Amino acid sequence: MAATLIKNGRIVTAVDDYIADILAEDGRIRTIGRDLQVGAHVEIHDASGLLVMPGGVDVHTHLDWEFGVSKTVDSFVSGTTAAAFGGTTTLIDFANQTRGQSPLAGIEDWHGRAKTACIDVGAHMIMLDVTDQALADMKILMAREGVTSFKLFTAYPGVLQVDDGAIFKTMRMAGTGGGMVCVHAENGGVIDVLVKEAVAAGRTGPKYHALTRPTIMEGEATHRVICIAELAEVPVYFVHLSAQEALKSVSEARDRGIPVHAETCPHYLFLGPEEYDRPGFESAKYVMTPPIRGREHQQALWRGLKNSDLQVISTDHCPFCFSDKFGLKVSKQQGKDDFSKIPNGAPGLETRLPVVFDGGVRKQKLSLNRFVDLMSTTPAKLFGLFPKKGTIAVGSDADIVLFDPEEKWTVRAAEHHSRIDYSLFEGRELTGRVRKVFLRGQCIVDGQKWLGREGMGQFQKRGASGTVF
Ligand code: URP
Ligand code: ZN
Ligand code: ZN
Repeated sequence: MAATLIKNGRIVTAVDDYIADILAEDGRIRTIGRDLQVGAHVEIHDASGLLVMPGGVDVHTHLDWEFGVSKTVDSFVSGTTAAAFGGTTTLIDFANQTRGQSPLAGIEDWHGRAKTACIDVGAHMIMLDVTDQALADMKILMAREGVTSFKLFTAYPGVLQVDDGAIFKTMRMAGTGGGMVCVHAENGGVIDVLVKEAVAAGRTGPKYHALTRPTIMEGEATHRVICIAELAEVPVYFVHLSAQEALKSVSEARDRGIPVHAETCPHYLFLGPEEYDRPGFESAKYVMTPPIRGREHQQALWRGLKNSDLQVISTDHCPFCFSDKFGLKVSKQQGKDDFSKIPNGAPGLETRLPVVFDGGVRKQKLSLNRFVDLMSTTPAKLFGLFPKKGTIAVGSDADIVLFDPEEKWTVRAAEHHSRIDYSLFEGRELTGRVRKVFLRGQCIVDGQKWLGREGMGQFQKRGASGTVF
């Protein structure tokens, strides 16, 4: 029987904070207590002086993903290894339906790629072609395949955008099986006009990506989608919320008791629009959607995290290299002469926990319990993984991070395990670093040593989605 003892750590969950030992056996937490005595067969790790937290749960990643003419650069091996070094032990990635095909084919294709994962993984299904058959197949996804969340886009016309009728139908069907509908909310039609006008007028640099995606259009789409979800009576989850107008709609709906949820991402919390004034083409690194917003939006996001109008911080890890190292299909250079051709997306999997710990907990914007809640517990609850994932409790999977709250280090993309060639946080000096990571009781990260292996991640068939107020 495989057994691990983590001794003398400061165990922090979304609600607890105490010193104790954790005994893990056969992948699960068997006992939590003081001065646990164990036999010689047990592997012992001393966690004195360290925080012992549940492994991170990142519910928004795009690994090995075709996006229009581009493809993200991280495979499931490199992406999940990077995630592990960043303290994340479970992620939920996006599978997608392709036009004219069943979402069941989409999940099969995703499994083919995801079987190499080194941490535990689940899948949301992106719906593109909402036919009667596709709707019927959603039932199978929820009941048989453990895919209980779906993603819809109100942006990227001609690529991913669906209309309001498709949104309504998908939501109604999701509601029959305990599903959650995740939405990328921006008004794609209006943005498309602004983008085409900018390019035609010769405004082709990366900063025009930000200037053609006004916050009011995120607000409009968020409000519209909430109305549709209210009518469909289904829980809804807004991905990468960045604008105060959108947050206002979320907050009003939650005050009325409507099950509306939202995540934001580290880049919206810590970066400002000055990133788009970088010289040359450098600012293409910050071309993600939605773009980085003004500081007034950032302040609203911090308030939203504190008062629970925002419940999750995920990465939206969607890595496209800056240079052509891995070929044009995966690089930002595609948009050198036209910002609308820059693949939208940025990396973040490896830095989520330390960046938010340093900027959130240490700068006293978040309590330690709230940090765990946002990074692990609530994402697990919302997406049908709790209490197997997202907490430290007897019977839960022994997915555990030992975190040194005092270690100082500097973010360097060159030292990362992702294949991406840049970091949004390059050169940032952080205090707080992941020391060890355990996946189902097995130590997979020990300092800079990788002890995990390709394919050891398990697919998580998820239960019904939760609602968190
Ligand atoms: O820029 C982004 N966020 N790319 C990934 C696709 C999406 O919109 O989530
Ligand atoms: Zn999106
Ligand atoms: Zn995304």
